[in-house]
Amino acid sequence: ASNNPTTVFVFGASGDLAKKKTFPALFALFRSNLLPTHTRIVGYARSAMTPAELRERLSKFIRTPTDQDKKTLDEFFKIISYVHGQYDSDEDVIKLAKAAAEVEKKCAQPSSDCATDRVFYLALPPSVFIPISQQIKRHLTDNAGYKRLIVEKPFGKDLASSTELADALAANFAESEIYRIDHYLGKEMVKNLLILRFANVFFGAVWNRQFINNVQITFKEPFGVEGRGGYFDEYGIIRDVMQNHLMQILAIVAMDRPVDLSAEAIRDEKVKVLKSIPHLTVHDVIVGQYTRSGDGKVVGYLELDDVPKDSITPTFAQAVLHIKNERWDGVPFILKCGKAMPDRKAEIRIQFQDVAGNIFPHDLARNELVIRVQPDEAVYIKLMNKKPGLSTETVISELDLSYKQRYGGDYIPDAYEALILDVLRGDHANFVRSDELDVAWRIFTPMLHELERAKHKPEPYEFGSRGPSSADEQLKRHGGFTRHSQ
Ligand code: BG6
Repeated sequence: ASNNPTTVFVFGASGDLAKKKTFPALFALFRSNLLPTHTRIVGYARSAMTPAELRERLSKFIRTPTDQDKKTLDEFFKIISYVHGQYDSDEDVIKLAKAAAEVEKKCAQPSSDCATDRVFYLALPPSVFIPISQQIKRHLTDNAGYKRLIVEKPFGKDLASSTELADALAANFAESEIYRIDHYLGKEMVKNLLILRFANVFFGAVWNRQFINNVQITFKEPFGVEGRGGYFDEYGIIRDVMQNHLMQILAIVAMDRPVDLSAEAIRDEKVKVLKSIPHLTVHDVIVGQYTRSGDGKVVGYLELDDVPKDSITPTFAQAVLHIKNERWDGVPFILKCGKAMPDRKAEIRIQFQDVAGNIFPHDLARNELVIRVQPDEAVYIKLMNKKPGLSTETVISELDLSYKQRYGGDYIPDAYEALILDVLRGDHANFVRSDELDVAWRIFTPMLHELERAKHKPEPYEFGSRGPSSADEQLKRHGGFTRHSQ
């Protein structure tokens, strides 16, 4: 970390991501005194807005429960300025550069001649990633301190388009300057995986094909894609959630122990394990699309205004992946994600092998280790226990580490807060490296192209249901079971 004055440029300052995530996270860091001392934030977007209008827009998403928070918010807005302009216009971006130089002059210590650091956060649709990164390079990178670029998916739609984007960014920024966000890497429980695995002796010992039967990584949301059908229909759930968020989790669950905690050591191991996964085919995946809810109250995917009536974009997908290495050969990794499901949940479920040579008069449930990413963060282990009392029966019980109970009201930071802080500290460990992205696309691209070429129709499932029943059948075929199939 440096003590230089820092300017954070937020491109797309009036958009959804900036409103809902970037600015609230910056505020949370500001409130905790975690922003560098002389930080200025400069918002940039196409619409003309007064500072008051910008404030009004952003405040709605920033929680200020106490009077002190409200005062802090006033202070926060004092470090924010706003400039409007196009993303591909030299003239407009020069205007932005001048405005930035002006605020930087104001905040620098009169006696200091220190360099200014600059962070460029692209909270923008992918269509403008390339022009704006060129503009930034041309007009905003003459500062003497560091230059860091934050980008977020979609990183293309397949291997070819992702490579094209990577090349264009690489023409303007070094890999060491690029921070690719996958916000799942900023989630508390995903960060905890490394510690659970490598700071405890008993998980390491059983973390392999001999003891683990299957691994299920699940993401469910109880809502559809109202309001973002345009974006979603172009990408679908596999690109929106599975290829990135779920694969990142898979990589951390499956990788070998990194030689140390440095970003490169961790990412080297992630890339290595991803390279051991053969690419998927259509036979490895079940896709679904939600229809109107059973009670008729919530419209189906194809009824949304911004979705074509004949769309075959999946809103649910389940894929079975195999890792061809010594540790994991033969262990299915079952990735499941769905919109319009009954509840919100993201979890990792590790199912251990059946007990060999069971001596008890009944079947034994498998041990499971569950890491609940959200909501209600928890780690729990399911094990067989004696039913208390005079009976000799066994019952499935849980060793349960529920965060709320164990750590009380301790707050868990939002993923974006953790990630922006990492950027300010120059730590790449929780960001996606270019080669990592590449391997993830290699695994998914052939299957995605096959689905699209064959115009593969997703299986319909009712809004609020468990998704296509063939997904449960696929899970069973691979030795896994769910609460519903037990
Ligand atoms: C985003 C996806 O990356 O992640 C959304 O584009 C999804 O479709 C979201 O809803 C889920 O994030 P979280 O943090 O709410 O689980």
